[in-house]
Amino acid sequence: MKKIMLVFGTRPEAIKMCPLVKVMRERACDFQTVVCVTGQHREMLHQVLEAFEVVPDHDLHIMRTGQTLFDITCDVLVGIKGVLEAERPDVVLVHGDTTSSFASALAAFYMQIPTGHVEAGLRTRNLLSPWPEEFNRQCVDLICDWYFAPTRISRQNLIDEAKPEDQIWVTGNTGIDALRTTVRNEYSSPELEWASDSRLILITAHRRENLGMPMLQMFRAIRRVMEEHPDVKALYPIHMNPLVRDAAHAELGDFDRLRLVEPMDVIDFHNYLARCHLVLTDSGGIQEEAPGLGKPVLVMRDTTERPEGIAAGTLRLVGTREQTIYDAFSELLDDESAYQRMSHASNPYGDGHASERIADILAKGSCAAFGL
Ligand code: UD1
Ligand code: UDP
Repeated sequence: MKKIMLVFGTRPEAIKMCPLVKVMRERACDFQTVVCVTGQHREMLHQVLEAFEVVPDHDLHIMRTGQTLFDITCDVLVGIKGVLEAERPDVVLVHGDTTSSFASALAAFYMQIPTGHVEAGLRTRNLLSPWPEEFNRQCVDLICDWYFAPTRISRQNLIDEAKPEDQIWVTGNTGIDALRTTVRNEYSSPELEWASDSRLILITAHRRENLGMPMLQMFRAIRRVMEEHPDVKALYPIHMNPLVRDAAHAELGDFDRLRLVEPMDVIDFHNYLARCHLVLTDSGGIQEEAPGLGKPVLVMRDTTERPEGIAAGTLRLVGTREQTIYDAFSELLDDESAYQRMSHASNPYGDGHASERIADILAKGSCAAFGL
């Protein structure tokens, strides 16, 4: 039986890897499954592990306040070496584009352990946006052996880079698997009660390239629009990055119709997403979740690696300039037909069974280098 080690370290990776862990652990006759978390995130990672009841076998505990890319890369690379030596997995699976993914894929490459990339092939082709994620995912795709691409577009991106076609599978995104289990018909909370007389806006922001001026511009635009719309309330679960928290509190802390709250449990967040009016975010994962729930998303970034949601009509790229965000946000609140055009459900990221497909591929030994 093959031993497969899944490695992840941040909230979004955990949300998208836990469904796969669960499927693989249910198939104990096919695999021995080992979970190693890097601990790049601490509280935000453990929130997800608890929600999905996943207990890791190894935790590198690397997080430090204000960690740099050097810290994360070096600590993961050095920390995971001992785990790989002790476990000697036949396959390592990493996810997406974080520095945990990059450094653990690099460690597996140094030890010549075959590696699979879950959510392979996303691209902006701009190494500075998102930064450093575009670099991370291109590097992982350079050194991994198997590509679990969420969509046909991501598959094509890999083919355009001359990756071997027979090692690429279109599986859907495992994030949609998570969504299938978290969104509930019966759900209530004090915040939803508070917002029940208003249109509820969900806000998140955290990208490294948006820290500083871009983030201030986002917050100022949001505040201006909300001041002009008394029927709107907003919930903003702030990322734990102290730079984000300071900026959010300084710009938005005293505005009573906008609540700054702690990072939400994924079950809570997905249920708010299902019930909100619209979303303003620079997040990657939310761009995949919102289309399926029919929620318009104003993406406060200059680029996106998720063109499927733009094509589906539910995502709109609005950049990080105050006036552009102000205009787009105002339009969606004031122009009912513009809102309706963006608020239909479509599911370009899969049917919620991506994890089973990945497990099937691994179990059947379809991976040529797998040696099965
Ligand atoms: C990381 C990923 C980014 C991903 C994001 C998801 C990299 C380089 N960046 O960015 O791709 O979109 O996670 O949220 O891999 N902190 C805590 N507790 C936590 C988590 C973070 O206190 O549970 C604080 C720490 O002070 C930490 C800081 O947030 O130093 C930044 O965390 P870090 O993982 O370095 O960057 P993110 O912006 O979260
Ligand atoms: N999310 C969450 N709680 C929150 C905010 C977001 O569980 O308070 C979820 C969200 O549904 C999505 C993921 O976290 O699945 C996105 O994570 P993040 O925006 O931190 O990272 P990115 O996707 O940009 O890498």
